[in-house]
Amino acid sequence: MLGLCVNVDHIATIRQSRRGQEPDPVQAALLAELAGASGITVHLREDRRHIQDRDVELLRRLVKTKLNLEMAVTEEMLQIALALKPEMTTLVPERREELTTEGGLDVHGHVDEVGQAVHRLREGGIAVSLFIDPEHNQVAAAARAGADFVELHTGSYAEARGRKPQEAELARLIQAATTGRALGLRVNAGHGLDYRNVAPVAAIPEVEELSIGHSIVARAILVGLERAVREMLTAMGKG
Ligand code: PXP
Repeated sequence: MLGLCVNVDHIATIRQSRRGQEPDPVQAALLAELAGASGITVHLREDRRHIQDRDVELLRRLVKTKLNLEMAVTEEMLQIALALKPEMTTLVPERREELTTEGGLDVHGHVDEVGQAVHRLREGGIAVSLFIDPEHNQVAAAARAGADFVELHTGSYAEARGRKPQEAELARLIQAATTGRALGLRVNAGHGLDYRNVAPVAAIPEVEELSIGHSIVARAILVGLERAVREMLTAMGKG
């Protein structure tokens, strides 16, 4: 069955806007699991802008499905992952000034460096996924680097406007997924997927799991707002 790995970074973004304790991404992760998520993803960024070290340590102990640690290929992150031992890591490019992960990892251009990181993580018993653009040379390089999974970047598909451009982007994803499987890789996909555009990607047979964050957190805020206001009015009535 197609899995859903829920990214809870944005819960931490709201918490960090006050440098406080709420909302707690760890609590959000446990609720997502109760609702049927097949895993939890967090991106521990170099600048710690949302997820904190405390979060990943608690998640490691409390997540019952699978913790997927998204991270840059740096010595600091490799050491954190090897000490933490999440079930899975997803290697992504990272630039300080970006709002979110913008492009896929250039595995083709850095196959030795990425391959060494993959080797160290796998030796540590951690499954490794490489977040890549749906391009033949990147998929082939991911196989050469020894990854277990690729996560196909669905950002261009999500941003395509109009039926033809969207179909063209979907075709690239299907082609990359087929190539990945043929090369012995397991295939996930994610970035920018929402309630309107998810179905065609979910229908790609080679894709095992989707990684979704922003649209779920955005919807959770809206569907939960009415109840939150009612609960505040009740709390005020107790004064
Ligand atoms: N996959 C990867 C590798 C990502 O970097 C992100 C964003 O943090 C996602 C999936 C989830 O994307 P979105 O928040 O747009 O659903």
